[in-house]
Amino acid sequence: MIKAQFSQQAVPFASTPVLSNDQTNRLVINTLGIDSHDVVLDVACGPGLITCAIAEVAKCVTGVDITPAMIQQARQKKQNRPNMEWVIGDVEPLPFNDAQFSVVVTRYSFHHFLDPISVLGEMVRVCEPGGTIGVVDMFTSSDAGAGPEPDGTTA
Ligand SMILES: C[S@@+](CC[C@H](N)C(=O)[O-])C[C@H]1O[C@@H](n2cnc3c(N)ncnc32)[C@H](O)[C@@H]1O
Repeated sequence: MIKAQFSQQAVPFASTPVLSNDQTNRLVINTLGIDSHDVVLDVACGPGLITCAIAEVAKCVTGVDITPAMIQQARQKKQNRPNMEWVIGDVEPLPFNDAQFSVVVTRYSFHHFLDPISVLGEMVRVCEPGGTIGVVDMFTSSDAGAGPEPDGTTA
């Protein structure tokens, strides 16, 4: 279901200007303190919008996402950057070694995960000791604002 939904969204998502907003990207990069020493993982990277912004300041960045159509968009966006890598894969488990990255970030993805705590555990596992974990997501101030569940019921 996730792949089917996000396959439909891959092109519109990749071309929505607000999702590539420079100020937002900067806020995330500066808050996490990403610099030229960092080996970064972007979890559920989608079409690589923030991954590409990170690549401009980090040593290297890997984007992982379960939806091939999203990774296809990401490859088209920045295919020639030598410090970027794209991986098609699930977040549970993340297909990476323990302590492989100095920064592990994810944006607008946690509300899609069935078991977000477990995903957070995976992000910690692949991050080196003393590294940085960043979770960026949206929330509402009421259950009603969260909208219907996939089966049509409200929370
Ligand atoms: C709303 S998009 C966010 C994309 C990107 N992080 C951004 O902020 O531009 C959510 C992404 O989560 C991915 N995703 C959802 N569940 C996943 C899972 N179990 N494993 C890997 N990726 C997943 C989807 O394929 C989709 O690309």
